[in-house]
Amino acid sequence: MYGIVNKAIQELIETQYGINTWEKVRNNARIEDEIFLSNQVYDDTVTFTLATSAAMVLSISLESFLIALGEYWILETGQRHYNHYMIAGGANLKEFLINLPHFHTRIKLIYNELRPPEFEISDIKENSLRIHYFSTRTGLTQFVVGLLYGVGKMFNQEIKVMVESVEQDGNIHDVFLINW
Ligand code: HEM
Repeated sequence: MYGIVNKAIQELIETQYGINTWEKVRNNARIEDEIFLSNQVYDDTVTFTLATSAAMVLSISLESFLIALGEYWILETGQRHYNHYMIAGGANLKEFLINLPHFHTRIKLIYNELRPPEFEISDIKENSLRIHYFSTRTGLTQFVVGLLYGVGKMFNQEIKVMVESVEQDGNIHDVFLINW
């Protein structure tokens, strides 16, 4: 994944737990890079090893860390560094979620080797909808949950996220039922 994701892990830990904790996470993960370059592609194992190490050092589950990272990604990385993309994503929560399938098309213009997730929207009702999530990677379900909570907070709206699994054409994918 692009270094910006590893950078977000580093920033989250440094700002919320301090530089010493970050050093522990980095050493425990046996990562030698002292800085991550946003626009360089790193092997996915770097990101997964850092997340696993962070959960271990902070004595929380990997799932809890991924949720925290998802929220941080939206509220800090997204809003601070890419605010115009977040604004272009939609004027309110529902619109933003309905537009989600197109979100990374714009991001791909800056990060052209991006391997983004795919989203499909279904069952749109007044206060709920379903998001179908397809990825080339596994293990990121709770990251998506955190991202969705982050999007809710961005619009100052409390949301509920329920994870469901659905089989389609013999493959299983995650579905998120969002209520607000
Ligand atoms: C301006 C804000 C955003 C930027 C700059 C951004 C950028 C990225 C980048 C660089 C990656 C790593 C993929 C790679 O390097 O191949 C990524 C992955 C991902 N993004 Fe975004 N993204 C943004 C917003 C969002 C939003 C709003 C969502 C959904 C709510 C989202 C969902 C994901 C997911 C789930 C992944 C993991 C990849 C996978 O599932 O395979 N992102 N994004």
